[in-house]
Amino acid sequence: MPSFHLNNISDEDLAAIYAYLKVAPKVDKEHPPLSLGPIGKMVLAQGGIKNQAEITNHNFKSPKRPEIAPTAEYGRYIAEVTCIGCHAPNYTGGPVFEGDPNWPPAANLTKKLKGYTNESFAHFLKTGLRADGTLIDTTAMSPSITSRADSLEVAAVFSYLSALPQAEDASASWLETFEKH
Ligand code: HEC
Repeated sequence: MPSFHLNNISDEDLAAIYAYLKVAPKVDKEHPPLSLGPIGKMVLAQGGIKNQAEITNHNFKSPKRPEIAPTAEYGRYIAEVTCIGCHAPNYTGGPVFEGDPNWPPAANLTKKLKGYTNESFAHFLKTGLRADGTLIDTTAMSPSITSRADSLEVAAVFSYLSALPQAEDASASWLETFEKH
């Protein structure tokens, strides 16, 4: 659970999620215990996988949620909670930080979004189809999640991301860009 960037959520949004989860219907389902296999344990021991708690800034103060409007300001707030975990804090993409090794590298949104309009971006989030009509590899980013964004949220995120200055692909490692962030 990537707390190190999920902590970009405002206290009021967090309270709303908590209120929802408290009343969500109970589901009886056995979950297999989460565990790292032998290779994962070795990589962890060698410092290759960071313990999420170690890289989370525990003195971080939750941001104030901007006004809910189709503005770049609100889009930035949404993107910092929902997109930077994979696309990197400077949105230049690259291999997903501590992601599944089978995932494709995340796209460089500072370049890719230049090929979209608000409409084709909304269509992409609903279907996984790029502006040129081809389907992305949906193993990491799935329309089953992003299709739930409403039109105001889509317009806000598009307004923010499409105006980012273009930068080189994966211009620095995730952690470096996170530390500068
Ligand atoms: C779990 C990781 C993950 C998250 C979270 C995520 N993405 Fe992605 N995204 C990816 C990966 C990986 C690809 C590349 C898929 C491919 O190359 O087929 C991608 C591709 C894209 C593309 C396609 C670019 C193109 O035309 O090729 C766009 C646009 C995009 N993401 C936007 C977003 C936005 C906006 C958010 C936040 C709302 C987001 N992503 C959140 C992993 C993620």
